[in-house]
Parts: sequence; structure tokens; C-alpha cells
Amino acid sequence: MAEVIVLESPAAAGAFVAAHIAAEVRARPEFTLGVATGSTPLPVYEGLRAQAAAGTDFARITAFALDEYVGLPAGHPESYRAVVDREVTVPLGLDPARVNVPDGALDGIETAGDRYEAALAAHGGVDLQLLGIGTTGHIGFNEPGSSFGSLTRVKTLTERTREDNARFFDSIDQVPIHCVTQGLGTILRARHLVLLAFGEGKAEALAAAVEGPVSASMPGSAIQLHPRVTVVVDPAAASRLRFREYYRWAQDNKPEWQGI
Ligand code: F6R
Repeated sequence: MAEVIVLESPAAAGAFVAAHIAAEVRARPEFTLGVATGSTPLPVYEGLRAQAAAGTDFARITAFALDEYVGLPAGHPESYRAVVDREVTVPLGLDPARVNVPDGALDGIETAGDRYEAALAAHGGVDLQLLGIGTTGHIGFNEPGSSFGSLTRVKTLTERTREDNARFFDSIDQVPIHCVTQGLGTILRARHLVLLAFGEGKAEALAAAVEGPVSASMPGSAIQLHPRVTVVVDPAAASRLRFREYYRWAQDNKPEWQGI
């Protein structure tokens, strides 16, 4: 079972996860971080900026993003390449040559997934993968029906996900229909998964992913197959968890030596 940690706010959750990542990076400067985009991981990136300001050096880490939209013009501010540069690469002082984002350019899109898998394999995979969850239950952009063995490939976004993400664009018509996303099989290879969720709007998907049946209808439930998963949420996102009292009990009685 995943370890579920309920903290009082997204800021507290971000600071907690950032402190863990920073400690790992101090112990192993060539750490590989899997980054997510969207709103959910922003408090983690804020926490990482605080860790950088306090002296943790992120210059030697490698980053792999989960996904990218297909067909946005290069440099589009909502392309995930631009978001990762803005939120992670520049403020944390990462080496841009070590920041990988799937290539969503239309030219060569047929091979984008395979190229990304090759880059991940050549590097040796991801140490810690940050994940958000969509209201459809997607992780990465693996919409319902995605195979648990899937690798990085082009996927079609659901209308629901396009509506959810329209807030980043001027209108829903500008939200791409396709994306290149790490597959569920790719995500499951990361050595540690850290799933974050905040707000009532995520409560249902979160409960289904963490406690529901393992099913391709709920792609987030793939995390139940992974040996090392930490779920960090606020009380609103935790509100539908059946075993939340147990999770609190387990935290209160956590052996001192045990990390996340
Ligand atoms: C982002 C990603 C998605 C988001 C999910 C939640 O790289 O892969 O799975 O994590 O859509 O988005 P937010 O955090 O904006 O609610």
C-alpha cells in the first residue's frame, strides 16, 4: 500500500516534498527527478527554490518531464518545455542540457515516444517521479483505458482534460487534442513515485487511484502496483479516502528511522 501523508495545505506539502528531494540531492548530486506540470507540483517547485536559496545545489541533477502537448509552436508559453524551463530549470539553476521533455513537434512526432524512451533508458531511469492526478484519473496524460504496460507515445486528451486545462489558454480551442506522454509502464519504472493532490476537486479521483480497484479505467490506480509510493495531499483531497484514519495513525506511529 502507498504511504499516504495528509498535510494542512499545499504549501506545507510542497515544503515537505521539497525537503525530501533536497536531502536526496545533497546525498547524491546526480539525482534524477521526474517533473510534472500543471498546478499541483507548483508548491514543490516553490519549496525547491527555498532549498536552493538555503544552499542545496541542483546544478548536477537530471530532469525528465512526464509529457508535452503535440503541435504547439516552439516557445509557446504553455508548452510543457516552456513551463519546465520557467518553473524548474531557470529558478533552480539546472543545466538545460540535462532537462528532458518529450518532443511535441509535429515534424517527427511518429518517433517522439521511442526517442524519449531511449533517452530514459540511456540515462538509467528516474529516481523520484512527481505526479499529479487529473479529474479523469490520468497520471501523465494516460487517460482512462491506457494500458498498464504502455510506454511513451502519442495520446488523445479527453474533452474533460482539455476543459480542465483550458484555464492555461485563451480558449478551449487552443488546447491541443494530442500529447506525448510517458506511459503507465514508463512511470512504474521510476524508483519512487510521489503523487500529489490538492482540493476537493481531486478527492474522488484520488480515492479511486489509491484505494479503488486496479483498473485501466482509473489510470492512477497503476500506482498500487509500485513498491514505493508516497501520496501527499491536503485535507480536502483526502476527504474521500476510506482509510484516512488509518493513514493518520500510521503517520503518528511511524518508526523514527523510516523516511518516505
Ligand atoms: C502534468 C500531467 C498531468 C497533471 C494533471 C493534474 O504533467 O501529467 O497528469 O498532473 O492533469 O493537473 P493539475 O495539477 O493542473 O490539476
